Order: sequence, then C-alpha cells, then structure tokens
Amino acid sequence: MTMPTSLPVSGAVPDGPRPKRPGGGAPGSDVPPRPDLRLAGPDVGLYRRAMGRFATGVTVVTTALGGHDHAMTANAVASVSLEPLLMLCCVEQEARFHDAVLEAGVWGVNFLPAAARAEAEWLATRGRPLHGQLDRIAHTRGAVTGVPLLADALATFECRTTDSYPAGDHTIVVGQVLDVVVPDHTGDALLYYRGRYGTLA
Ligand SMILES: Cc1cc2nc3c(=O)[nH]c(=O)nc-3n(C[C@H](O)[C@H](O)[C@H](O)COP(=O)(O)O)c2cc1C
Repeated sequence: MTMPTSLPVSGAVPDGPRPKRPGGGAPGSDVPPRPDLRLAGPDVGLYRRAMGRFATGVTVVTTALGGHDHAMTANAVASVSLEPLLMLCCVEQEARFHDAVLEAGVWGVNFLPAAARAEAEWLATRGRPLHGQLDRIAHTRGAVTGVPLLADALATFECRTTDSYPAGDHTIVVGQVLDVVVPDHTGDALLYYRGRYGTLA
C-alpha cells in the first residue's frame, strides 16, 4: 500500500478526554453493569491510535433538508443486513450533518475513489460553509430519495432511516437500502489509515 503524504485530519473519534460516568454500562445503555470490570477504560489518545490502525475506505454521506444539501466525510459506515438490506452510519452528535440526517430520514452513501482525496478533506473540514459545499463536486440526485450522489463515486447507496441509536457522543443511524448504483467506471478506492489518506499500491 502506498500512502502519499497528506495532512493528518481528525477522524470519527473525538479529540480530548471525555468525562467518565461512574459505575454501570455505557450512558443510555440497557446492558446490565459488570461491577467486576475495570470501568475507567483506556486513554482516548491510545484508543484513537489503535483505531487508526484499522484501515478503512472513505465515504461521503449526504442528505437534503429544506432545500439544502448536506454532506460529510465518514468512515464509520457498514453493511448491516442482507434480508432486509440495511446499512449503518455513525454520526457525531455535534456534527451539523447529525440533526439534518435524522430530520430528513433519508441519506446517501458514496464510496470515494482515490482521486477524491481533496473532496474528502473538504467535506471533513469543520465549520465549512454549508451552502454550496457541493458546488465544486459533480453530483446527481438519487432516483428514489433525491439526496445528492457524487458522480465519481465507486458505488452509491440511497437509504431511508429505519432506526437510530444514541451511542455515546455519536448516533448509530440504520437505514434500509432503497437503491444502489454501481457505475461502469472502476478504479482504486480512497483509503484512510493512521490518520492519512492513501491508496492500494
Ligand atoms: C476519514 C474521515 C472519516 C470520518 N468519519 C466520520 C464518521 O464516520 N462519522 C462522523 O460523525 N464524523 C466523521 N468524520 C468527521 C466529519 O467529517 C467532520 O466532523 C464533519 O465533516 C464536520 O462538519 P461540521 O462542521 O459540519 O459538523 C470523519 C473525518 C474523516 C477525515
């Protein structure tokens, strides 16, 4: 794998230590506490470093609400189920995408090609202007939901939210896959590893 030079950028795991809740399972959890376990857990920096060694692809998740498009770089995306077809995305509660996607109830997932590194960096930039954030990125509208879908994506998915689960400082958004497009063009995927973008050699 070649990892071209790139700027380290923040991933899905938030910066800095978070206050620990005493006793019990995770906040909001219905899993019974295990008082025999050491609950303090590891340092968040160590956790971030460890998670950085889990190589992922990179996606842009999208939605549309009130006439405005929303989009955000995300790698906490997964396939959940084949019957029915379900995907999930973990969205930080502080991200502006969070309330938009929950309110809209529909969203898109776009698997990024290696050439889309600049787009990934842009759509991970905190506080970027929301309006016009997709102006310089070629995109179409999903046939079923109307959410933005990136023209250069390796594959795109349209989902409708079926469940959402608050989980710490993120919400796990689960959606039924309503449409999939696999364009003819293929190419290398954009990867994310140890805080850097890269591609398969
Ligand atoms: C490679 C990469 C993956 C990311 N994955 C996620 C993710 O899965 N979920 C998430 O909430 N934020 C993720 N982020 C961070 C968001 O992209 C970023 O916080 C968001 O775009 C900030 O936008 P805002 O200012 O509109 O809230 C990721 C960032 C990068 C660079």
